[in-house]
This record gives sequence, C-alpha cells and structure tokens, in this order.
Amino acid sequence: MNPESLFAPSPSLEDRLDIAYLTGRTSLFDHFVASTQGRFWDPSDKQYIDFSTPFDMTQPLLPLEHFPELNALAGHVPDEELIKYANLQVHRMLSGFYYGEQAAFLTCLKEADELNDPGAVEYAINQAREESRHQHGFQRYIQSRFVSPLPLSPPYRATIMRLLNGDVPQNKFVGVQVVFEGLGLATLGYAARSANDPLLRRLTRLIMADEAQHHKAGRMLIKRELPLMSPQDSEAMAEEALACFKLMEGLYLHAGPYQTLCATYNLEQPEGLILAEHSRNPFFEAIFRRNAKTLDDCGLITVQTRALYAPWLKVSAQDSVEDKKDEQLAAEIIAELTLHNAGNPNRHLAPHTNASKKQALV
Ligand SMILES: [Fe+2]
Ligand SMILES: [Fe+2]
Repeated sequence: MNPESLFAPSPSLEDRLDIAYLTGRTSLFDHFVASTQGRFWDPSDKQYIDFSTPFDMTQPLLPLEHFPELNALAGHVPDEELIKYANLQVHRMLSGFYYGEQAAFLTCLKEADELNDPGAVEYAINQAREESRHQHGFQRYIQSRFVSPLPLSPPYRATIMRLLNGDVPQNKFVGVQVVFEGLGLATLGYAARSANDPLLRRLTRLIMADEAQHHKAGRMLIKRELPLMSPQDSEAMAEEALACFKLMEGLYLHAGPYQTLCATYNLEQPEGLILAEHSRNPFFEAIFRRNAKTLDDCGLITVQTRALYAPWLKVSAQDSVEDKKDEQLAAEIIAELTLHNAGNPNRHLAPHTNASKKQALV
C-alpha cells in the first residue's frame, strides 16, 4: 500500500503522538467539517422537526402510481390492500435506513481508528455524529408511523458485519460510503420530493443536508485513492462495490411482498427474486442507474465487473434531471438550516436554550 494513501496501515498510538504525523495532516476534509455547524439539526428539537405531525395511515405514504406492479391487481384486490402494500414498501425502505444509518455510524467509528491521517480521522468522527442523528431521526419516524422497524434481513446483516469486521479499510469505505450512501442519498431525494406525509418529506430533507456532503466526500476520497492503489487492491474494491450494489438491488426490488399479495388473492405470482423491469418503482430504477453512473465515474466499475451492472448502465436523460433536483434540494435545506442556526440557539451551539425564544422552522 502506498504510504501516501489514507488507507495505508494505521499508525500506532505511539506514532500518533509523533510531530511528523500531526503536521502531515491533510486539509482535504476541512470544508466538510467546517460546514457541519451551519447545517446542524436535532431530531429531539421541534425547531427542526416535529414528530407529532399527524398523518392518516389509511392513506399511502408514497403515491400508488409509483408502484406499477399494482396495475395488474386493479379490480382483484381491494384498494385498502393496495395502500397497505405501498406503505409496507415504505416501511421496508425506512427499516433499511434504520439499520443502514447505524452501519454508517459504526463504519465511521472504525474509520476513525483506521484512517492514516489526523484530518481524515476528524472527518470520520464528525460524520459519525451525523449518522447517529440520522439513525435517531428514522427511529423517531418509524415509532410514530409503524411502531417498530422490520427485522434486519439476514443478507443485509451479513454484509454489514462482513464490512465492519473486514481488515481492508478501503473496501469498507466503498461499500458503505459510496454504494450504500449513494443509493441512500438518491432515495432520500426521491422521498423528500414524493412522499405524501409532510413529516417524511421533512425528515428526508434534513438528512439530505448531511448525506449530500458525505457522498461528496466519499467520491472525492475514492478518486484520490484509486491511482495510489495496486491493481489487485483496486479490483478488490470494485468487487466490493458490486457486492454491495447487488445486495441493495435485491432488497429494493425484492419480489416477495408482491408475491405474497398475489398469493393472498389467488392471483398468478411473478417468478424470480426481484420484480421485473417496468413492473417496479421507476424512481427505484433511477436510483440504481444514478449510483452505477457514480461508481463508473469514480473508476469503480472495471472490465471484470461491467457486464454485471446491466441494465443499470443504460443512460436515461431523466437521471441527470433527478440529480440536479436533489442537488438543488440539498442546497436549499442547507441554506435554510444555516440561516436558522445563525440566529437561533440549539444544543449544539449553546448549552441551554430558551424555549420561548425558539422559532419553528417547520
Ligand atoms: Fe446517514
Ligand atoms: Fe452518511
């Protein structure tokens, strides 16, 4: 491993007291860390988000027309069951975030111990705090709408544990920070723009403010690191990216809930583990195409792995429109938070806040 790499073997505790280590600090992450104060938000503080915001759960959390697989069931399945199906898909999606945010938090803790630079370590610790508030936010939302999360699926659990217990820091970084966070950011943008529930739109917007920065930092670091790596190390990283991408493909597009609904009403069930193209949420499809494009742009799709990304490398003009909409949305919420935080005390910026002076954002 090139000693210039931030993924080079981490220094000993003794080495971390060395002047050369401390003065060799990278400034690559400084602006990400500096921005955190402006975009601070707190799931426990109603100035930022109010988890008592009501929503009628007999209504769909996402528009029913986003689930084209339901078209074939019209007239055969009661409307309320179609709504339950859409809300189950949201429950599945948010349960994925519930565990994914904790995985991101734990990854940052590991990175804080593994990265070979004091500035990179500060970034990882800073991101860890943000991942923890995301997990808290999803926990509060799930409690309010579904009571509890769905269980962590065995393949997702196995991948999280494999990444966390792995001794190759760059593979863990690519899996969590580039693939999981990239898909996560696009999913947040989708929910923030499409959800019928104002609370879900608010939560996903707030998390986007942080995740847009995390994903930017992740892409930046991988582009810096790839030229420093041996062909074997970069191929191993590309294989990890593919494994994580395929895991998420299986989770997002899983055919199980739809097959169960068909079976309940004695309707013909589609075959296969994932829903067929054009019979699944088109925004989910866009999320995978957009992430595959990012991976390709970062150099994480190789000759060996390219064919396995089909059909996600097909270009759609709408994808760059979705990218732009997400960038704009993240910029808007960051600007809103920065303005608000400049004039209002919160537990991050002041030890005590006067509730009567609080000005609600929502
Ligand atoms: Fe997060
Ligand atoms: Fe993140």
